[in-house]
Amino acid sequence: MTSLTLLGIETSCDETAAAVVRRGDDGRVQVLSSIIATQVAEHAPYGGVVPEIAARSHVESIDGIVARALTEAGVGWDGLSGVAATAGPGLVGGVMVGLSFGKAAALARGLPLIAVNHLEGHALSARLEDDIPYPFLLLLVSGGHCQLLEVAGVGACRRMGTTIDDAAGEAFDKIAKSMGLGYPGGPALEQLAEGGDPARFPLPRALLGREGFDFSFSGLKTAAARAAAGLTGDVDRRDLAASVQFAIARQLAERTERAMAAYADAHDGGDLRFVVAGGVAANRAVRTRLEQACGAHGFSFHAPPLKYCTDNAAMIALAGAERLALGLTDPLDAPARPRWPLDAATAASNPTHIPGRKGAKA
Ligand code: KG4
Ligand code: ZN
Repeated sequence: MTSLTLLGIETSCDETAAAVVRRGDDGRVQVLSSIIATQVAEHAPYGGVVPEIAARSHVESIDGIVARALTEAGVGWDGLSGVAATAGPGLVGGVMVGLSFGKAAALARGLPLIAVNHLEGHALSARLEDDIPYPFLLLLVSGGHCQLLEVAGVGACRRMGTTIDDAAGEAFDKIAKSMGLGYPGGPALEQLAEGGDPARFPLPRALLGREGFDFSFSGLKTAAARAAAGLTGDVDRRDLAASVQFAIARQLAERTERAMAAYADAHDGGDLRFVVAGGVAANRAVRTRLEQACGAHGFSFHAPPLKYCTDNAAMIALAGAERLALGLTDPLDAPARPRWPLDAATAASNPTHIPGRKGAKA
């Protein structure tokens, strides 16, 4: 087998991203370029991502972003082994832009297409800069997802738990909004929480001690919004932000620790590795709490650098490269999927995971 050089395209939310990643025949990974154009400023006036605006913005910038990724990598179309594009889950208008672009490029250049599940990209993101062998336990915490996964390789992720309502980042964002902070709320709330008293506001501890590895943040969200109403003093607001951050980190750690115990049982005697990925992994209180959990349960702690925690195309290119190395490619009629469980068997057999009208995003 020779080395593989993949163009990755990511357009499933509010980042237009393209990257070139090379995977050596020994499995070693090199990110040759990773370009990310964020639309945060375009969505900020609305307090959240507006799907229509996101899709239009992707279609305007995708060509330029891909050109930059190739130029920065020093790789022409002829130097590519394949094109990997996110095919879901996500905001489908945006997904269609990136996937269609990927299909057109693959067709025009005679390259194989790999339709990548965005969650599989996150699942592999820690391997972009660190040689973390499979398998590992992954906590994926972003604005759209909150899942515990056992990652054994591409196409071999087993979902252990997911949120039954909001994702952790969504909880940060919604609570921040109810406190009058800007979008995205997570970083703003973390900043406000600095020096605050995390024990000042007792907030609900959902699912504590409950069987399984699912998460729930809606009770916390309601309680925090109620506490926020009428708070005007700076100290009060700081203490509430610290209490919210503490409560979210606590639940993430408590549910993760249950999963760690089960994972350790199942991998008796093997190396125990834990990875946290997704935008919420940027939060220092969350990281600290998870590092403590690793220490208590004998796991090594890994987190990709922040640029690979949040949405990026390097992780999509890597998932594409690992798939291509296994001979897994997709036809040009591959669908764009707003909802696409990474572990279809678990999603189908456990319908309690399906929130909302349209079924589980993940
Ligand atoms: O992974 P990501 O960039 O996009 C999704 O795939 O959703 O994650 C974005 C989420 C947002 O909800 C944002 O508020 C949250 O990650 N986030 C944070 C922090 N930085 C980003 N949450 C808490 N503390 C942070 N420092
Ligand atoms: Zn994501």
